[in-house]
Amino acid sequence: MLNKVIYIAREAGEVLSSGFGKNFSIEYKTNLANLVTEFDKKSEKTIIDFIKKEFPTHSVLAEESGRHDSTSKYLWVIDPLDGTTNFAHGLPIFSVSIGVQKNGEMIYGVVYDVMRDAMYSAEKGSGAFCNGRKLSVSSNDDLHKSVLVTGFPYNVHENPDFAFERFNAFLRVARAVRRLGSAAIDMCYVAEGVFDGFWEVSLNAWDMAAGKLLIEEAGGIVTDFQGKPMNIFDKQILASNGKVHSAMIDTLRV
Ligand code: IPD
Ligand code: CA
Ligand code: CA
Repeated sequence: MLNKVIYIAREAGEVLSSGFGKNFSIEYKTNLANLVTEFDKKSEKTIIDFIKKEFPTHSVLAEESGRHDSTSKYLWVIDPLDGTTNFAHGLPIFSVSIGVQKNGEMIYGVVYDVMRDAMYSAEKGSGAFCNGRKLSVSSNDDLHKSVLVTGFPYNVHENPDFAFERFNAFLRVARAVRRLGSAAIDMCYVAEGVFDGFWEVSLNAWDMAAGKLLIEEAGGIVTDFQGKPMNIFDKQILASNGKVHSAMIDTLRV
């Protein structure tokens, strides 16, 4: 089944790359910052049509079309285009993210970084990989030498959950803080040991489902801002190599 998840993530990625840089329609969701393009929808349709054909009994939660319920123990959690703002503005940092749960436990996580042709995949208990190469989180244990990554929700101007104060606090202690615009790619880079840690508020399950498993399978940890276990339906995520986790929890205290 993992091979099928990888297959359809690549197909959806090809839909996205066929539209990248071209003219396409853009609509607004909640405000002028929150966009959806016709390619978000085309990518999602590609994935859901495949699931309906190959796994007709499975349940689906997808960003653009919501919940497609069934009584199946399998749930596919799909972000058909993570990084819509980047995509719409011609910045080649965007991905397809697909997580699969069985009885509420994440069993597969796949993120396809389209323009780098980097296929990140993890299966529960079997490690995390990028294009077949095994991934491990970084070994750095010093927050002052860390490169971190974060992102902001579309209502960031309202400063939800002290987003500005927390960003400010990390800028003061870390070596550098990056903001790429695709939470799924942010999390892949933590799994790969490029970034030492990631935090964000107000993400949705489809942003985090695959990335959480990828980081855990690469030896990292994923919690809420207090260090308690989090699940993909929670609204705070702190992910790291494990070694800078408690220093990040201290920094997140507001
Ligand atoms: C967004 C990206 C971004 C994050 C936003 C998300 P979208 O997803 O993951 O990095 O900061 O909060 O909503 O809308 O491009 O799928
Ligand atoms: Ca997203
Ligand atoms: Ca999306």
